[in-house]
Amino acid sequence: MKVVITREIPDSAEKLLKARGFQVVVYRKDDPVPQRELEKLVKDADGIISLLTEKFDKNLIDKLERCKIIANYAVGYNNIDIEYAKSKKIAITNTPDVLTDATADIAISLVLACSRRIIEGVKFMRARKFKGWKPKLLLGVEMSGKFFGILGAGRIGSAVARRAKAFGANILYYDIDEVPELEKETGAKKVSLNFILRKSDFVSIHLPFTPKTHHLLDKEHLQMMKKTSILINTARGEIVDEKELIAMLKARKIFAAGFDVYEGEPKVNPALFKLGNVVLLPHIGSATIEARNRMAMLAAGNVIAVLTGREPLTPVV
Ligand code: GLV
Ligand code: GLV
Repeated sequence: MKVVITREIPDSAEKLLKARGFQVVVYRKDDPVPQRELEKLVKDADGIISLLTEKFDKNLIDKLERCKIIANYAVGYNNIDIEYAKSKKIAITNTPDVLTDATADIAISLVLACSRRIIEGVKFMRARKFKGWKPKLLLGVEMSGKFFGILGAGRIGSAVARRAKAFGANILYYDIDEVPELEKETGAKKVSLNFILRKSDFVSIHLPFTPKTHHLLDKEHLQMMKKTSILINTARGEIVDEKELIAMLKARKIFAAGFDVYEGEPKVNPALFKLGNVVLLPHIGSATIEARNRMAMLAAGNVIAVLTGREPLTPVV
């Protein structure tokens, strides 16, 4: 049976699959496979390990002749039409849990980079501007004693809440579900979206991107945020109306924003590069050696499970 991996990932996945007797084809260029090539590559695959940069829409799913599983190498899976895949009896899996700590660490890194103006400080030093200690140089804000709002208290949101709690913040969360463990562990309070935006000094997004969360933070919602607040997005760019956010950052209607994801990725709105009160990262939430190795093993494990007639380990539907 043939398994296609749409980009190079840690080779432990390929080794494991080969050791189990699968033929493995890896797309070796370190760029997304052009859609035409992707069609040819995956057409006769029995299993696919895909990246979030590959769009499995109805059109591509219809080209799959015998695929039984698409194992997405990511926790998010908005790149796959999962309902359509399901109707074609194709299992879809993701890589939850194994990247939770890595992604939560990046969210907190962005919080600190924004709140303590780390990037501005680094630029200042490299521009040889440092002339000694100054009472008003690069004043930032603290997490301690502030309200830290988590949008989406799933695995990653909860891990960020625990970290923010350790910094002394009061945790608020917005979620469809109540998360009693999180409340017990951190004293977090479940509140409405409007309340969390009005009250929080820090807002960190950890929701999946779905039609329901598209532009959840639109102009009206963004304007509820405090002038002193900081917004962090490590989930998906499309959850925020980025144009509106840029306008607010320009007008200093919020203090700063940290981005690991962008609306319409891989494109990045050039207006972002002109702002001093943003920290921009290149979608590296799960980019640790540990997380990526575990993601590779989990994706391969999912493929092996399904192609040997067992249940997938981490199905999304
Ligand atoms: C990365 O964005 C992921 O969804 O894993
Ligand atoms: C995303 O679903 C998460 O792991 O929080």
